[in-house]
Amino acid sequence: MSSPRILLTRRWPAHVERAMAAEFDVIFNENDQPMSQKQLAEAMREVDILCPTVSDRIDAEVIGEAPKVKLIANYGVGFDHIDLSAAKSRGVAVSNTPGVLTQATADIAFTLLLMAARRAGEGERELRAGKWTGWRPTHLMGASLAGKTLGLVGFGRIAQAVARRAHHGFGMKIAYYGRREAEPEIAQRYQAQFHENLHSLLRISDAVSLHVPGGAETRHLIDSTALKSMRPHAYLVNTARGEVVDHTALTNALENKLIAGAGLDVYPEEPSIPKGLTKLENVVLLPHLGSATNETRIAMGMKALANVEAFLSGKPLPDPVLL
Ligand code: DGY
Repeated sequence: MSSPRILLTRRWPAHVERAMAAEFDVIFNENDQPMSQKQLAEAMREVDILCPTVSDRIDAEVIGEAPKVKLIANYGVGFDHIDLSAAKSRGVAVSNTPGVLTQATADIAFTLLLMAARRAGEGERELRAGKWTGWRPTHLMGASLAGKTLGLVGFGRIAQAVARRAHHGFGMKIAYYGRREAEPEIAQRYQAQFHENLHSLLRISDAVSLHVPGGAETRHLIDSTALKSMRPHAYLVNTARGEVVDHTALTNALENKLIAGAGLDVYPEEPSIPKGLTKLENVVLLPHLGSATNETRIAMGMKALANVEAFLSGKPLPDPVLL
C-alpha cells in the first residue's frame, strides 16, 4: 500500500497525534465535533484506515461507502459501535485497545460506587447551592462498604480490577455472574463466589457493578425484573455500556426507592441523558470518563498506532477483534 491515508474521527492526545502524523498521512477532524453519518461516509471514501471512537456509528452503510478502507483501528476497547459482520463481509480487519484502560475504568467504577454510597454528589450539590447548615449527626448518612457484598456482572479484566479494589482495599465480599466460572486461582484471589444465574447474584448483592460488553446480547440485561431482584438498600454502577440498562425501569426504580441509588458513566444515546435522571438525588452521573486519564488516553492511542503499524507491515494485528 503506497502512502496510506488514515482518518482519525476525533482529536487524540497531542503526543499520539504527533507519533501518528510522523509516520503516516493523517486526516484530523479539526473541530473535534462528532461526524455525521454522511460526513463519515464521505471522509472514508478517501482513506485506507479508519480510527474511530465510541462516539461514531460505523454501520453497514458507512462501511459499504468505503471501498479503500482495509482496517478499522478503534480507539477504545468496546466495539459495539462497529458493525462487525459488515466489516467481515467487506474484508475489513478490526482492532481495539484492550488492557490499557482497565485500571482507569475500575477507578471510575469505584468512584461511582463510593459517591453513590456516601452521597457525595448530593453533598456537593447542597454545599455549592449554599444550603449546608453545618455538621449534624443525621446529615446525609450513607452506607459503609466494608463487609458488604459486591456483585459483578461479568468477570473480565475490568471487573477483576474492581474486585481487587473492593476486596483488598475496602474489605468487601465478591460475587460474580458470568458465562463461565473463572479460573480457580483468580476466584481465590478475591474469594469470589460464582453465580450462574443473574438474579441469584442480584438478590445477594449490596452493590452491583456492570462489566459486560454492549450489543444485542446484553441489551437491557438490567430491566425492571432485574431491578426488582436487587435489594432495596443496594446500589447499581454502570461503566460498561448504557444500553445494558433499561433506563426507564432504572428511573422508576430510583424514584420509587426499589434500590438505594446508582452511579452511571455511560448512557444509551450519548451525550443525551435518559429523561428524568438529572432530577433525581440518588443517582451520580458522570460523562463517560472511564478511560479519561492522560496516561490511559495516550496508551490507547499508542495501541491503536501499533495495530496500524503492524497491519501496514503485513504483520498480525496485536489486538485483533474476532470477526
Ligand atoms: C471504550 O474504550 O470502550 C470506552 O468506553 C471509551 O474509552
